[in-house]
Amino acid sequence: MSETSHLIGLLLGTEEDWPTAFETLVSRLGTITDASGHRHRLVTERITMEPFDLRDRPRYELVIDRLAYWYYLPREWLKKVALMNDVYLLNSPFTFQSMEKHAAYCAMIRLGIKVPPTVLVPHKDPPDNARFQYTAAKYNLPFDLPAIADRIGYPLFMKPYDGGQWIGVNRVRDRGELMRAYDTSGRRLMHLQAAVEPFDVFARSLSIGAETMVMKFRPELPMHGRYAVAHDFLSPSVGDEVLTISRLVNAFFRWEFNSCECLVNGDQVHPIDYANASPDVALTSLHYYFPWAMKTLLKWCAFCLVTGRRAPLDLDTRSYFEIGDREDLSYEEKLSAYRRLADEYFDVDRYHDFCASRLPHVDELVLDWVSSAEFDRLLTDTVRSTYPTHEQEQFAAHLRGLVGQWVREQGAQPAWAT
Ligand SMILES: Nc1ncnc2c1ncn2[C@@H]1O[C@H](COP(=O)(O)OP(=O)(O)O)[C@@H](O)[C@H]1O
Ligand SMILES: [Mg+2]
Repeated sequence: MSETSHLIGLLLGTEEDWPTAFETLVSRLGTITDASGHRHRLVTERITMEPFDLRDRPRYELVIDRLAYWYYLPREWLKKVALMNDVYLLNSPFTFQSMEKHAAYCAMIRLGIKVPPTVLVPHKDPPDNARFQYTAAKYNLPFDLPAIADRIGYPLFMKPYDGGQWIGVNRVRDRGELMRAYDTSGRRLMHLQAAVEPFDVFARSLSIGAETMVMKFRPELPMHGRYAVAHDFLSPSVGDEVLTISRLVNAFFRWEFNSCECLVNGDQVHPIDYANASPDVALTSLHYYFPWAMKTLLKWCAFCLVTGRRAPLDLDTRSYFEIGDREDLSYEEKLSAYRRLADEYFDVDRYHDFCASRLPHVDELVLDWVSSAEFDRLLTDTVRSTYPTHEQEQFAAHLRGLVGQWVREQGAQPAWAT
């Protein structure tokens, strides 16, 4: 019987850990038989950079992009293959223009989500453009930065309207710190944002397609300790709210691989950062959750390719705003309505049916692999390339402990624990 081969392109920068994991799992997946009996096989390939003719036909059906947020050649190639060839992208650079948090804040505020009070201020240093002086002299009004900060209240956060990795993020306690932070902000546009402080829990959700893992995050710890292995750390209703907000943001902007950060205070959920074009999926930071992430990436790619899910190019902002703008609906009612739209967008029910009927072997396949000596080699290689020699033993033990916990919870024993 004929078989369809689906090529997944990986657009990578410096990462080796999760790509190796993903490639291994795809190569072990075997064939998937769809509802009509037709067989499908997934294949991966790392994409290389070269000149491209705009009329070239790409060989890839789906691309997982980890590079275009800073490298513009592949970004333009992604736009071309999305527009001309219907290649399915995780994520599309068209929607990640709003990788600047700013657009995401605006959209979520309109939808009634509890984004802390946020003000965008003009940059400290003028843009490098000969027209600026004339334009600014004519049209820029003087503004009173301390007065804006006073209105927001201290402490507050001054942070870039875009970007990530905590670069340029300042916690500001008083006027002196405010002016110093602003003076060093240079040409970066900055938001001033009310601090959500104190908060009970920092919930960081990683979403891959139709699935979301809500994790307890401890930003004050070094990277390897930030994700706590914790279950039931949110009440069911708050947990559901965090999940709904994450899925809403993703469905709204068509982001299929993203992380969303919410600060939870009692029963109040405040999202503060949720536009990460290339979310962290490193083995060293996700540890216990790494097998889930790899499994879900595999399942979501299989679902998209085998069912022929169409790559979305357009946003459907109006459907969401029609709910957000209604005055007769409560916050909870709006959340439920958004959740229905978002679940529909990600085809959540069909995805779960597909996993149950077409990918019943994947959970065991991932467990077998994570329990194997081959996985331990990946773990060791990752530790060697990440930490200095004198710390490697400690970090290898740390990761083996946490991933081993996951393996044991699935009822298996890691081959590498002995
Ligand atoms: N409004 C806020 N209230 C409390 N903490 C905040 C707020 N904004 C940012 N932070 C803290 O600063 C960190 C970095 O800010 P964030 O907006 O997530 O920027 P980045 O995109 O660089 O991760 C957050 O993880 C959080 O610990
Ligand atoms: Mg963040």
